[in-house]
Amino acid sequence: MMPIKIRTAKRADASALVAMHALSLRRLARGFYEPEVLEAFITQGSMDLSLLDGDGYFLAESNGVLLGSGGWSPDVPGYHAALKRMNGAPSLPKAMVRSVFVHPNAARRGVASALMTRIEAEIRAAGFHSAALHATLSGIPFYRRHGWRGGLPVVVDLPGGHSMVGLSMTKQLLGELEAAA
Ligand SMILES: CC(C)(COP(=O)(O)OP(=O)(O)OC[C@H]1O[C@@H](n2cnc3c(N)ncnc32)[C@H](O)[C@@H]1OP(=O)(O)O)[C@@H](O)C(=O)NCCC(=O)NCCS
Repeated sequence: MMPIKIRTAKRADASALVAMHALSLRRLARGFYEPEVLEAFITQGSMDLSLLDGDGYFLAESNGVLLGSGGWSPDVPGYHAALKRMNGAPSLPKAMVRSVFVHPNAARRGVASALMTRIEAEIRAAGFHSAALHATLSGIPFYRRHGWRGGLPVVVDLPGGHSMVGLSMTKQLLGELEAAA
């Protein structure tokens, strides 16, 4: 077993992350989408780089080698804080899991599982009761294995008239008793 270390990703990691995401998509999502759809997705941007300005995007590494990455953000940036100011005890919006990718050479070794354990713990610690994500077709079996439930299909429009279909998925992260405490 390789040791997997997880740390917060920062702006300085951006180019290494984007390069790893492209490799991940080209190898691990091959067969789920036409190559030109994957290239359009890569061109559009595999992640929102502003996530790297916060504390919610993580990378997994082993002896300094980048193995995978993933993170989360509130569903609507700014909305949660605004609700709290208005109501005192808001019904919390969902958290969104964002941009989970594993280097193809590190696939099926528990890297994404380690990242999701950290991400779900951070979402719980921030007080969210449930979370959502948009899974690529290549990610669905992995998320199901981690207790995520499928909802409606989602379609993302991409450059060049391409579009990419995925699945909206959700997971309850706190039980009703914990949520009420
Ligand atoms: C989906 C992805 C993140 C999984 O990463 P990973 O590190 O290989 O996942 P893990 O090793 O933690 O897998 C845990 C379990 O999930 C399931 N799983 C993971 N990948 C799977 C696959 N391709 N097919 C079927 N089940 C899969 C298995 O049950 C696996 O356990 P096992 O290996 O003991 O059978 C990775 O394949 C990837 O980066 N894919 C391309 C990009 C992508 O689709 N990202 C999702 C964006 S929403």
